[in-house]
Formats: sequence, structure tokens, C-alpha cells
Amino acid sequence: MPRDVQPVRAVKGTRDLLPSETALWQHVEDAARAVFAAYNFREIRTPILEQTSLFARSVGEDTDIVMKEMYTFEDRDHESLTLRPEATASVVRAYIEHSLYNEGGIHKLYYMGPMFRRERPQKGRYRQFYQIGAEVLGSDHPAIDAELLEMLVLLLERVGLTSFRLLINSVGCSKCRPEYLKVLRRALEDVKASLCSDCQRRAATNPLRALDCKVESDQPIINKLPMMQDHLGPECRQHFDRVIAELKQRGIAYEIVPRLVRGLDYYTKTTFEITSGALGAQNAVLGGGRYDGLSEAIGGPPAPGIGFSIGEDRLVLAHAAAARNKAEASGVQETSSALIAYIAWLGDAALGPSTSLARELRRQGFSIEVGYEPVKLKKSLGMASRLQARFAIIIGEGELASGRYQVKNMNTGEQEEVEHMLIAEYLKENVTKEAQSTTVT
Ligand code: HAM
Repeated sequence: MPRDVQPVRAVKGTRDLLPSETALWQHVEDAARAVFAAYNFREIRTPILEQTSLFARSVGEDTDIVMKEMYTFEDRDHESLTLRPEATASVVRAYIEHSLYNEGGIHKLYYMGPMFRRERPQKGRYRQFYQIGAEVLGSDHPAIDAELLEMLVLLLERVGLTSFRLLINSVGCSKCRPEYLKVLRRALEDVKASLCSDCQRRAATNPLRALDCKVESDQPIINKLPMMQDHLGPECRQHFDRVIAELKQRGIAYEIVPRLVRGLDYYTKTTFEITSGALGAQNAVLGGGRYDGLSEAIGGPPAPGIGFSIGEDRLVLAHAAAARNKAEASGVQETSSALIAYIAWLGDAALGPSTSLARELRRQGFSIEVGYEPVKLKKSLGMASRLQARFAIIIGEGELASGRYQVKNMNTGEQEEVEHMLIAEYLKENVTKEAQSTTVT
């Protein structure tokens, strides 16, 4: 590399997920897909680029996300486009655009993918981060809220997260919230001068957002403000009480947190977050809630909805922390390699038969690696071991002549001669045997 050429680096707040990490991400995603399938959710994929107005009208003009954090640019035809900061608005847009509501019933949709917010990067907070989310459209029944939370708890358990807190609240609806906002505005007027500059602005423009303030010195004042919980209309009160009753019935632990209003404007009634102590400052693993007016806000028909988005980066961090604790406690190390065999060939004549064998085994679904640099046997076996291959298949002059290849079990060191046509069968049998003997019950 010439000395005066500076290497190009990843953009601040974005990161590469290297193969040593992606196995864990895939594990989390596979667990999520299995749980979603069990609850009859189906995948939706929406574009990463959306018209800017989608987020202004749904997440809200006066939210941190829209005011400060979106990656927005003018396209060549002067259209304002934004890299999605979240996906709920996109899912509802797609629901309207494709008239999914005409199919009747409820729609249960899930998604996984990158989101973009220009926040100050720190552990667990990135500018490109990943969410796994689910949305239910077409019903405002409180049992849907509870079922969604039940599914979440199962999902978190499946990825090994055992200690977390479910925080829940109701932010009312378009009928009862305006009255509450009047009360809140009046209360904010009295204390405004002692609050941060953002809250002074919010007091006039979007008082609910003040409850979301993270500035330390504001906290004692905000804690004393009137809360929505005490001003819910009869419909919202009943809805919230039913959700709580359903959670109790399902044995799901929760804490009611009256300040939990969340940072997005589209919420109505139920809001929730799940936090994990394993995460440090950015402790919200996920957030969600009901948004019964969102469809209409972006030009669709009335369509109540509820959903959540898991911060996948944070879930993976929490899972890794939980797995580390477990491994320390039991002395078990996680192994990640799925490589079944490494083919070590010796002498040019063995290369052709090695690649043929590799192709045949791969077609049968085995994970196989072939070394292409001609090296000595010892080095080849070293490579097999570094790659954590379960077996090394050794093919040299003698093996070619006899048609029987050496198969070395890399865990036990045992070596057997196997008729080359029977290697697939041999691997199948021995991989199953090994799996059975290492299964912990
Ligand atoms: P949110 O609370 O903005 O909600 O984000 C959900 C989760 O995404 C957070 O709890 C956090 O785990 C993760 N997250 C957010 N920002 C970052 C970041 N900069 N870096 C890493 N992780 C982050 C929503 O996005 C809503 N769409 C949730 C929802 C779905 N509501 C209804 N349906």
C-alpha cells in the first residue's frame, strides 16, 4: 500500500459485523423467525429509502428523530428522501399502498433490517443499527396487546435473555389526551424556567415529549408533573385494565411506569419497553406500543395497530453477556464452527480427486473446505484444526492408489481408512454419533 494513501474507514457510528460475530446474529434471527411463525406472523420487506414526509407525519415533526437524527437528502429530481429511522411507518404505508385492509381480518407482519439515526455513537447506540420488529394491524383488542407481549417474552427467553423488565403505560387517545395536554401545559408553564432549553420549547410545541427528557437536573421536576395515567378517558382506562388483566392471566410480570411516553408521536393507549440490566446506559432492548391513528395520519383508512421493535444490536450484546455468564458458571465454551471436513491433499495428482470429493460432499449438504496451497501434511492438519473442522480427509499418493482415504477425527485424533465412495455415509454416521454423545440433557 503506498504510504500517502489513507485507508478508507467505515462511517462513524456504523460498523462491520465480522464472521466471528454474525453466527450469533443469525442465531438470534433464526430464533425470532421461529417464534414469529409460531404466532402466525409473516415477513414484510419494505424499502430503506422513503419519502421524508412519511416520517414527519407519523413519527412527528417535533420528535428528536425527525428534528435532529434523520439522514435526509434531496434526490436529483428534488424529491426529499430519508433513510428510514424506523420501520413502523413504512409497514403501515405498505399496508395502505397495497390495500391489505381489503383482505379483512388482522395482518401480522414482521421485519428485520437496518435503520439509520444520527445519534451520538456509544456502546449499544449506533447510526446504522438493526431492528427486528413486528406489527399487528386491524384490531384494537387488548388481548392482541397481551399476546404480542407474550410472544416477546418467549422470544427473549429463546435467545437466552432471562433477566429483563417489562415497563408498560397508556398514553391515552385522541379523545382523552387533548384534555390531559392542557393540564400538562399549564403545569409546565409554572416550572418551565427551571427546565432545559429543549423542554422549554416542548412545553409549547409538544408537551408530552417533556416526559421523555433525559437531562438529569430536570428529572425531579418532571417526576412531579401530572401523568396521563390519572387522566385516561373511560375507553382508554378500560383498555389498559384489560391489557393488565390479560398479562396477569398469562403470568407475565410487568411494571406500570406512568412516565413511559416513548419518543415517537404516533402512540395511542398501550406503550411499553423492555430493559435489560446487562446493557449499561442504553438499556432499552426494545420498545413499542399501539398506534390506532397512524394509518389515518398518513392518508389511509382507520386501522388500529400495535407493534414493537427490538434493537438487534442490543439483543445480541445482552445475549452475549448472558451466554458469557452461563459459560463461566458451567465451564462450557461456545463452539461456533459448522465445518465438517477439511480436505488435505498431498501431491498434484491428489488435487483433482480432492475437488471432486469436495463437490460431491457439498452437494450432499456437508460444509467442506479444501486447502489450495500445496503444503506439508502437518501444516494442513494445523489449518484443519484452526478452522475447527470436525474431520480432516487426507488424500496422498497411497490413498489414490488404494481408493481408500484417511479420515481423521480432529477431536479424538483417531484416524480410519474409508473407501472413498463411502465417505459421505461415514461422515453422516459419525457426525450424528458425535452430536448424540455431546448433547447435554
Ligand atoms: P424505538 O424505541 O425508537 O421504537 O426503537 C426501538 C429499539 O431500537 C430501541 O429500544 C433500541 O433497542 C433500538 N434502537 C433505537 N435507536 C438505536 C440506536 N441508535 N442504536 C441501537 N439501537 C437503537 C421504534 O423504532 C418503533 N418503530 C417501535 C414500534 C414498533 N412501535 C410500534 N411498532
